Amino acid sequence: MKNQDPLAAYNKYHSDRDNERIGLFTALNEKYSIESALYPGSFTHITPSFVFPHLVYVDSYKAAGKFFDQTEVLEYITTRKKYEKEPTVTFHLSDYYKDFGEQKDSFDLLISQYAGFISQACKKYLKKGGILVANNSHGDASMAFLDPDYEFVAVYNRKSDDKYAISEKNLNSYFIHKKQVKITKAYLEKIQRGIGYTQSPSGYIFKKVKS
Ligand SMILES: C[S@@+](CC[C@H](N)C(=O)[O-])C[C@H]1O[C@@H](n2cnc3c(N)ncnc32)[C@H](O)[C@@H]1O
Repeated sequence: MKNQDPLAAYNKYHSDRDNERIGLFTALNEKYSIESALYPGSFTHITPSFVFPHLVYVDSYKAAGKFFDQTEVLEYITTRKKYEKEPTVTFHLSDYYKDFGEQKDSFDLLISQYAGFISQACKKYLKKGGILVANNSHGDASMAFLDPDYEFVAVYNRKSDDKYAISEKNLNSYFIHKKQVKITKAYLEKIQRGIGYTQSPSGYIFKKVKS
């Protein structure tokens, strides 16, 4: 049987759906100093490697491991990269709650997109002053907002797949619940989804303020 396109999973879930989110990583790169990023729960979303030279991906799903095992993935990243350096790409087939052997306090960026409470499970790998980018699909941005180890510094909004805007304005107008509910870590862990705020940007940006 003929092998299918090695990039099929990336194309199906990202490029074919106008969902590469290249504009998000480009905007982060323009605003912050980022060389290395950790992406737990990445599945096959390799777009950050087009913008940042050093990426570590983590996922417990075996299909993700098979995807990253293919030499064509790094070759493809090399054709798309926007920087001079050689890309480095590491994939760990692991539960991100377990120790997957990366150095603590070492990454410039921690990426949390539709994959659970990464702000908590993988905070130890982010260096002090490093950036957490999180959407609130599973409540992870709400979780980071409650965490004194993070400072809420900006929001981002998608204009198109290649254009995202980062705003640092009126930050006190976010994370305001529509109902009078006390949001706690225990509550977020119980519901495991985003909650209804008066404003809903595409996602949120935090800085790790403690090591
Ligand atoms: C909905 S997909 C999101 C993929 C990607 N982040 C994106 O935005 O397109 C969620 C992924 O997170 C992974 N995941 C969820 N919990 C995980 C855990 N505790 N450890 C490792 N991977 C996990 C799943 O295996 C799945 O591939």
